[in-house]
Amino acid sequence: MTTCEYRPGLEGIPVTQSSISYVDGHTGVLEYRGIRIEEIAQNSSFLETAYLLIWGGLPNQQQLQEFEHEVQYHRRLKYRIRDMMKCFPESGHPMDALQACAAALGLFHSRRELEDPAYVQNAVVRLLAKIPTMVAAFKMMRKGNDPVQPRDDLGYAANFLYMLNEREPDPLAARIFDICLILHAEHTINASTFSAMVTASTLTDPYAVIASAVGTLAGPLHGGANEEVITMLRNIGSIENVRPYVEKCIANRERIMGFGHRVYKVKDPRAAILQGLVEQLFDKVGHDASYDIALELELVVEEKLGHKGIYPNVDFYSGLVYRKLGIPTDLFTPIFAIARVAGWLAHWKEQIGKNRIFRPTQIYEGPHTQQYIPLEKRLQMWEK
Ligand code: SDX
Repeated sequence: MTTCEYRPGLEGIPVTQSSISYVDGHTGVLEYRGIRIEEIAQNSSFLETAYLLIWGGLPNQQQLQEFEHEVQYHRRLKYRIRDMMKCFPESGHPMDALQACAAALGLFHSRRELEDPAYVQNAVVRLLAKIPTMVAAFKMMRKGNDPVQPRDDLGYAANFLYMLNEREPDPLAARIFDICLILHAEHTINASTFSAMVTASTLTDPYAVIASAVGTLAGPLHGGANEEVITMLRNIGSIENVRPYVEKCIANRERIMGFGHRVYKVKDPRAAILQGLVEQLFDKVGHDASYDIALELELVVEEKLGHKGIYPNVDFYSGLVYRKLGIPTDLFTPIFAIARVAGWLAHWKEQIGKNRIFRPTQIYEGPHTQQYIPLEKRLQMWEK
């Protein structure tokens, strides 16, 4: 078998054949199961979108109601999971807490009957249902408070905001948050989805698959960027400081958070939709000066780096929405995870349906025919 040319980060290398989503990075197109993201964001709900991604088609009325009811029924956490969270350090990052809890779910449901449709369905429902409850519970418990129990009379997005803030959200806030979840649900073979696929390919349980993906999403080059964008906007502090900031980053070859993408070489279509949501929220609940800084930053980065295809990605405006919804900054990436569970599960299901364990190769650059030197003869220090 011939080995392909080595591409750092597998850039441009297909690792699967998939029908879940499609991205055209040059024209800024994103489709879920062939439907443009703009149409889905406008007309769908997160749970309906999750159904579309995971089961491959839009549900009819009965299928959607049954799915929504099943997810609603499984939102609560077992007391052992809650008790485990009580032992987590208050200073721990919510993504680490989420990764631990996702893996812990496997302790209760570790059967690996992947050929059993009922097992697959149960895993999909439990993970979609419980991940938001885990995120909200950790937010409360890290301060020593009891978690807020889910409310069965609230929809998916509204219930999460309720568990987070102990009050029923404004309908516009709930709808905007639901659209944010739709926008973050799936994005072809990004790092965390690839991590999920590699883990899935060993035929382990879906809880371990999601735990792998959560750990991968946490990094600042991937899902962690939305948290960094807010810090960056706060550090820039004013519109006048934007240009000097960008020029410093370029001079120091530092990455500007929320910009650039391995695939998109134009503005991420999700960023454009999120910008519209920001403006809707601000019209209703008041302006945030950080948005003016963000707009100026987008203009200056386009001027300086547009020729390199560096434009806003999904993480650039999402934080401004979440902050306006009163969500703590360190929960921004866990919210990304709540949404992306849908995409990870869709790829898990697709992977186990035509599995071949991932085992790539390497180009060996090390030495051969080295001798073993006894300890007493190793006089020189080993250069690290
Ligand atoms: C997500 O893959 C997905 O689909 C991910 C995601 C999803 O939905 O799952 O879309 C979500 O992860 C969005 C990305 C969030 N991350 C950030 O915002 C962090 C900042 N962005 C980058 O670090 C970077 O753009 C990446 C990691 C996103 C992409 O990096 P690549 O494809 O490896 O790009 P590269 O390192 O090859 O850079 C190419 C050039 C370099 O300049 P040169 O060395 O050629 O002169 O572009 C420059 C880079 O320095 N560059 C940037 C930049 N990103 C790339 N310069 C300044 N600021 C940036 N953000």
